[in-house]
Amino acid sequence: MSKQRTFVNVSAGVPGPKGAAIIARREQAVPSGVGNNTPVVVERASGALLTDVDGNTYLDFAGAIGTINAGHCPPEVVQVLKEQLDKYIHTCFHVAMYEPYVQLAEKLAEITPGDFAKKTMFANSGAEAVENAVKIARKYTGRQGIVSFTRGFHGRTLLGMSLTSKVKPYKFKMGPFAPMTYKAQFPYPMNKPAGLTDAEYAQYCVDQFEDFLLTEVSPEELAAVIMEPVQGEGGFVIPPVEFVQGIYNICKKNNILFIADEIQTGFCRTGSMFASTHFGIEPDIITMSKSIAAGLPISAVTGRAEIMDAPTAGEIGGTYGGSPLGCVAALAVIEKMEKENLAKRAQEIGDAIQKHFLALQKELPVIADVRGLGAMCAVEFVDPQTGEPAKELIGKLTKGCCENGVVVLSAGVHSNILRFLTPLVITDEQLQEGLDIMTDVLKGIYVTN
Ligand SMILES: Cc1ncc(COP(=O)(O)O)c(C=O)c1O
Repeated sequence: MSKQRTFVNVSAGVPGPKGAAIIARREQAVPSGVGNNTPVVVERASGALLTDVDGNTYLDFAGAIGTINAGHCPPEVVQVLKEQLDKYIHTCFHVAMYEPYVQLAEKLAEITPGDFAKKTMFANSGAEAVENAVKIARKYTGRQGIVSFTRGFHGRTLLGMSLTSKVKPYKFKMGPFAPMTYKAQFPYPMNKPAGLTDAEYAQYCVDQFEDFLLTEVSPEELAAVIMEPVQGEGGFVIPPVEFVQGIYNICKKNNILFIADEIQTGFCRTGSMFASTHFGIEPDIITMSKSIAAGLPISAVTGRAEIMDAPTAGEIGGTYGGSPLGCVAALAVIEKMEKENLAKRAQEIGDAIQKHFLALQKELPVIADVRGLGAMCAVEFVDPQTGEPAKELIGKLTKGCCENGVVVLSAGVHSNILRFLTPLVITDEQLQEGLDIMTDVLKGIYVTN
């Protein structure tokens, strides 16, 4: 029934018997609030492939939600981790310092946008990086207000979800939220009002922000604006360059710090080491995590040296922040990205995904938009009859893809957007096989509907 594939093999069924048994135990032992997007129970992973406990092999188009840009288990990273394990696992940087922490801070100062003195502190997760960026910005400016944007996502801690915009499932009945956090409108180019040119739309959105500073909060009360240069969870929303520059310039004029949350966009995903570069901005602070270390739990806050030095000793940090394993892994990942020019590869992957879906769009009018910056690509589905987001279709599509060997995620406030976060080490043949499977599944669902 199913076609013979080169890389994918799901003959054991998804999930297979071993996977199903673990899922049954998981249901007893792990709360349902810790969601699972797929029933895949992994045994091992390499490059762009996942193998489950029943021996099924999948193409991974989700990359642990954008964590695996350098591929699963890159041999260079595994090697440095093994070497590090033989030396020491953890000493806590606050107690006994180690060179990889310093080396990684030096490297991030070099590769992040902006030719000025920078410093970096490390934490464990994306949300923690955001928390620290906000603490540092408040300490430096002596102001409290923080602005984030509609459709933005910044994590699941109290502050992270306060800055986040999608209500369900991220913040529903979880309030009260952190005070002095404000949400401004982010552009959604697909919904640009009729009659406006792109430049006029960008200006319209900047004007809205100027209004917001009159109606919601005064600039003198704002410590920082935090923005994902391309929104991740919000649906891979690519704002007009003029909008990002407009907000950035308003920040500069009013001494408000600009924090770029590059947790999902960073480390070559968008065809450049950091997405900020595409928008011609040099953020005061950048938050990073996910693909920084091929899956080791580490995050970073890099910023102008004088800003980063605002907190005094002990005011930022933590027991595990910048663990030695995370630091050596990150150094090896960055070296690999530079050596193999994964930024360029991201562009090639993105071009191939967009070309594929733009061709398919001609056949399937449910594909309302195909967009991307580098390999941060998305396909948005809207019912052509009703104009409603095609959420149900995406649910069936992601499930069908997984059952046929492609792990892929949805995004967006209506969950009607397919997003691609394939490892950037995926081969052309693997990418094509995954796209072909997705197309077969999509046509199967669409035609049956
Ligand atoms: C832009 C952005 N910020 C923050 C976070 C939170 O990161 P974490 O889940 O590691 O706390 C994420 C995670 O998806 C993200 O995409």
